[in-house]
Amino acid sequence: MAALDSVAAVVLLVALTQPFFTAGTRKLVKLNVVDGVGGASASGAYSRTQRQQQQQQQGGFGSSASGFEPGDPAPPFHVETLDGQQFAYPPPSGLNFSLVIHGFTNKSAFLECLWTRDTALADLLQGFPEGARALFLSFDETARSDARWMRSQIERAAAALRRKEILSRVYFSPVPVHELGNWIPKVLHSWVCPGINCGLDQAVFTSPEWGLPVVAKRLDARYDWLRGGWGQKSYSLADAGDGCEPSPSVSGAVAWVSEGNCSFFVKVKNMASSKAAGVLVYAFLGNPIQDMNCEGTECFTALGIPASMVHLEPAVVLALRNKQPVTVSFQKTPSPNFFVAIDQQGDLAEMGWFLYPTFSFVNWQAQWFDFSTQLRKQLTAPAQVLTVFKNVVMQGDPGAVTTVDLPTGAMDFDVLQLEATLSCPGKRDETCAPWDHTVQLYVCCDKFGPLCDMELGRWITAFHRGTGHWLTDVSPLMPLLDGKKCTFKMQTAPWAKPWVSGLRLRFGHSNHSAGDHSNILYPFKLEPLFNGGTFDKDYNSRYHPVNFTVPPSTKKVEVYAVITGHGSDENGCGEFCVTSHHFLVNGIFNNSRSFDSAGTALGCAERVGEGAVPNEGGTWLYGRGGWCDGLQVNPWRMDITQQLNMTGSNSILYFGLFRGKDPNPASNPGEIIMYSYLVFYK
Ligand SMILES: *[C@@H]1O[C@H](CO)[C@@H](O)[C@H](O)[C@H]1NC(C)=O
Ligand SMILES: *[C@@H]1O[C@H](CO)[C@@H](O)[C@H](O)[C@H]1NC(C)=O
Ligand SMILES: *[C@@H]1O[C@H](CO)[C@@H](O)[C@H](O)[C@H]1NC(C)=O
Ligand SMILES: *[C@@H]1O[C@H](CO)[C@@H](O)[C@H](O)[C@H]1NC(C)=O
Ligand SMILES: *[C@@H]1O[C@H](CO)[C@@H](O)[C@H](O)[C@H]1NC(C)=O
Ligand SMILES: *[C@@H]1O[C@H](CO)[C@@H](O)[C@H](O)[C@H]1NC(C)=O
Ligand SMILES: *[C@@H]1O[C@H](CO)[C@@H](O)[C@H](O)[C@H]1NC(C)=O
Repeated sequence: MAALDSVAAVVLLVALTQPFFTAGTRKLVKLNVVDGVGGASASGAYSRTQRQQQQQQQGGFGSSASGFEPGDPAPPFHVETLDGQQFAYPPPSGLNFSLVIHGFTNKSAFLECLWTRDTALADLLQGFPEGARALFLSFDETARSDARWMRSQIERAAAALRRKEILSRVYFSPVPVHELGNWIPKVLHSWVCPGINCGLDQAVFTSPEWGLPVVAKRLDARYDWLRGGWGQKSYSLADAGDGCEPSPSVSGAVAWVSEGNCSFFVKVKNMASSKAAGVLVYAFLGNPIQDMNCEGTECFTALGIPASMVHLEPAVVLALRNKQPVTVSFQKTPSPNFFVAIDQQGDLAEMGWFLYPTFSFVNWQAQWFDFSTQLRKQLTAPAQVLTVFKNVVMQGDPGAVTTVDLPTGAMDFDVLQLEATLSCPGKRDETCAPWDHTVQLYVCCDKFGPLCDMELGRWITAFHRGTGHWLTDVSPLMPLLDGKKCTFKMQTAPWAKPWVSGLRLRFGHSNHSAGDHSNILYPFKLEPLFNGGTFDKDYNSRYHPVNFTVPPSTKKVEVYAVITGHGSDENGCGEFCVTSHHFLVNGIFNNSRSFDSAGTALGCAERVGEGAVPNEGGTWLYGRGGWCDGLQVNPWRMDITQQLNMTGSNSILYFGLFRGKDPNPASNPGEIIMYSYLVFYK
């Protein structure tokens, strides 16, 4: 619930500043900071030649100059485990799982919190898919005791939740990473530590009496709770007790407050109202660093200062007690990557960003490996395949464009699927473009016909991740391909950094094995209906009923619509507000759909199993208006045959509502992007 409410809070925070259409604009809050710090700078446009050179260099078996790359096959290895056995990869029985490899270090407050937070461990137990295994390692000299501790943490959580089954799928090695002697250290060290919560975030305290500064690990408050990061400067530190009351003496300083007695929110709010520059909450001796977040309605109040949690530092406490001046500054020391993976096919893979301390990010990546394996299986089904784009750079206006000949007899198929991929100029996610923009595919097979340049498919880019791979059934749109030569145009925001797109059309039969096609319906006519527009008070008055008659010998009529909401008015519309969409047939049949998961904390994380790319930069986890980052937009199909007069005239009208009413934003209206069609089958 807490996180859900924090969604709403952030909507409020950024609503004023964001341009519409850069869907997911809330990410701006931290990402600009992160890009510079975490090394995930996707800066510099890649020319086609650079990209080709890079691909050539990276072509061979794990042989590029920089070592192993994502997508390279993982060489066999074995490591000693705590029980004195060996974990051998691949297993002698054959590979049928994905493997997550984690390197722990207690120098990271994020990892300390990850491994001590009950809910973080519970998440692992509840969502780690059966097709996955995990190998837990430690970077530290204390690897043996770290491994025992990690095991006991999981055992404890497994006992509490009665999910001991997981213990047969997790392995712990007492050998520190730097003594493994295999390729794993190289990959952990050479793959850029991505985004936030990787690398070692630290607070550095100084005081005139000390010889050396005191460097302490720190965990910043949830990225989507508190806006803004620490400045690159030195702050003075001022004691404010438990922070449960305002404390005027902290004005201009970083407030040093203890955990406990009131919520993190109350502490930060009090310190903000006391004009503190920021807050450091310390854990009492022996207590772990916690995940600082708001809870419930707290999240609706915007707090303008940064906050982090550290351990109690006795030297700091003593100096403050003795009225010695103490200053604090904030730094990030690079670290190896904490997580890498091997997919079910045996290829190395990155794990993306861990936005807050929970093992759900491990689960989501592993769930996506399951999805990807399933998709590969689906792609072995018989189909006539037409390659439209093969690693084509899509950037600027008009994006990726090509003209191809359609296979003869294309119209005899009743299934049309789009197999699309979006990858990056380089093999690493750090080369991927940021933001979640729409990608729209238009096709024109008859320049002079009414169906030229209609939308055939829509996807949303995966913020900083290049693994997107989707299969979308667009069979009703087959009539768009009525022609011999068709021009395909795939475009995203013209200002976006480059994506490398792949697109194949798969023509097939819905009943391939039966061989009898007599009762299959073919879409033979398409009538474009309504498009979207600015989601303001006039949104619905722009639509008028469309009258139509059903062509003779039609057996079925469908409405096919692809609708997504973008932008951010004061209600978060259309990206993060719940909108409903209605096709009213003959004045009485109200065909409705509501984007109920828009604005929910995990609405899109729950769709990883459908192919939503996990662990992206930014707030990919939140539900959105009809879409998710890194996912195809699923068409909405309604069979309206029973609602029609097949021999007379019919009407259809679209309208879109917010909370059951016409939208009425005060400013910054959002945008609905919609293509809709009537599809006639015979
Ligand atoms: C990690 O460090 C904290 C203090 O920095 C300590 O309290 C804790 O016991 C350590 N955990 C492990 C597993 O070493
Ligand atoms: C993988 O294979 C092992 C041993 O052959 C089997 O016990 C296990 O159930 C399989 N796992 C999956 C996810 O198929
Ligand atoms: C918490 O509150 C109690 C009771 O008011 C007080 O004695 C204690 O000092 C407080 N803790 C801190 C760290 O200020
Ligand atoms: C496939 O064909 C069989 C027999 O022709 C028919 O009964 C069945 O409904 C068809 N299935 C689909 C999905 O069209
Ligand atoms: C559609 O039909 C209705 C009722 O027959 C009529 O009033 C209306 O003008 C028609 N609309 C158009 C756009 O032709
Ligand atoms: C359908 O339209 C025809 C022609 O206008 C009309 O004669 C007939 O009554 C209509 N059928 C129904 C069920 O409304
Ligand atoms: C259609 O249904 C929605 C609720 O799902 C309702 O708000 C709307 O008023 C209905 N419209 C008509 C014309 O029945």
